[in-house]
Amino acid sequence: MESIVGHFGIIHFRSAGYKAMNEHITASNYSSIFILVDSNTHDHCLEHFLSHLDPAINYEVFEIEPGEEHKNLETSYGVWEALSDLGGDRRSLMINLGGGVVTDLGGFVASVFKRGIDFINVPTSLLAMVDASIGGKTGVDLDGLKNQIGVINMGVMVIIDVEYLKTLPENHVRSGTAEMYKHGLIADPDYWMAMAHSDEKLKHDPLKLIYDSIGIKYNIVKEDPTEKSIRKALNYGHTLGHAIETYYLVNESLPTLLHGEAIAIGMIMEAYISHKQLGLPSGEMESIKTELINRFGRVDIKDEYRPEIISLLKHDKKNTHGRINFVLLDAIGSFKLDQQVEESLLVEAFDFYRV
Ligand SMILES: NC(=O)c1ccc[n+]([C@@H]2O[C@H](COP(=O)([O-])OP(=O)(O)OC[C@H]3O[C@@H](n4cnc5c(N)ncnc54)[C@H](O)[C@@H]3O)[C@@H](O)[C@H]2O)c1
Ligand SMILES: [Zn+2]
Repeated sequence: MESIVGHFGIIHFRSAGYKAMNEHITASNYSSIFILVDSNTHDHCLEHFLSHLDPAINYEVFEIEPGEEHKNLETSYGVWEALSDLGGDRRSLMINLGGGVVTDLGGFVASVFKRGIDFINVPTSLLAMVDASIGGKTGVDLDGLKNQIGVINMGVMVIIDVEYLKTLPENHVRSGTAEMYKHGLIADPDYWMAMAHSDEKLKHDPLKLIYDSIGIKYNIVKEDPTEKSIRKALNYGHTLGHAIETYYLVNESLPTLLHGEAIAIGMIMEAYISHKQLGLPSGEMESIKTELINRFGRVDIKDEYRPEIISLLKHDKKNTHGRINFVLLDAIGSFKLDQQVEESLLVEAFDFYRV
């Protein structure tokens, strides 16, 4: 796979990635190198990573607790202290080896330590490969609200190695596919079709699907790095999806939904709204629903949850001037931004999802 190289990041694939990394490190004369992992990527990914790191390179490993609840300033503080205690300076390099939590937090920690040190992302989850590690958004949560603190920084490079996916739990693999489907829906009907027939590929040979997904995201980010216009398209499914994700997170009696599981629901409901409001053809709307329900199953969202989910929508960080903004589709592969939706249509969208 050919590397993707541009102003908005450098992404290398497999062995070419490790080669580029080793050459970069040798040429850069870093004072120290820190590898950030969580306890799962420590156990499942570090050995493979180290087998590709030039043995002449010295490093320290920092480990954080796994999970979104640790993607916060407290964990960041611990990493900054460790960097400081171990003599990290402006010429240090951080390598983030993990899922989106590690790449988001590690990228942020590196971006502000000593006003910014270099970092390399080595994503180990499907979601981090196709989404979190691409496009330069880094950050942490604040008081349970997602991604409130952060900066945009592409880092030095991203290395994609699908070998890591072999130990990723099945539900996390499935969760990562939601963003890949989304890339097809907003930008490329052929890619959507490829995802709809992706079962075997995902299991045995996912690299091409991942490569194409990254290509779609990269091209959007390149056009609009600061999310003033078309980058907002990457929020398709996320307006309702985030509200549903938050609702299930804060209600302790309910199971937690993984990000992709919630976004899949959001994409189905927003397909219905797209049909009603922008004329997304009904056949396309139905195929979105069928495919995503086949992949993710159907979550029992009870009628009594709806008012609170709708009120959470009103707090979405993408709202401006008190209006709820949606990205909607007028066809698979084609979107319209900044669509305002009547509350009655939201209620119908829940009904559409349910049957
Ligand atoms: N920066 C962005 O543009 C962007 C985009 C999308 C999502 N995100 C963020 O990404 C995060 C979600 O990413 P995620 O789903 O990767 O979460 P995650 O980092 O929590 O990883 C999911 C789980 O899998 C484990 N894991 C990761 N790789 C593994 C491997 N190879 N083998 C075994 N276990 C492994 C992790 O320890 C964790 O338990 C969220 O915080 C989200 O906000 C950021
Ligand atoms: Zn997402």
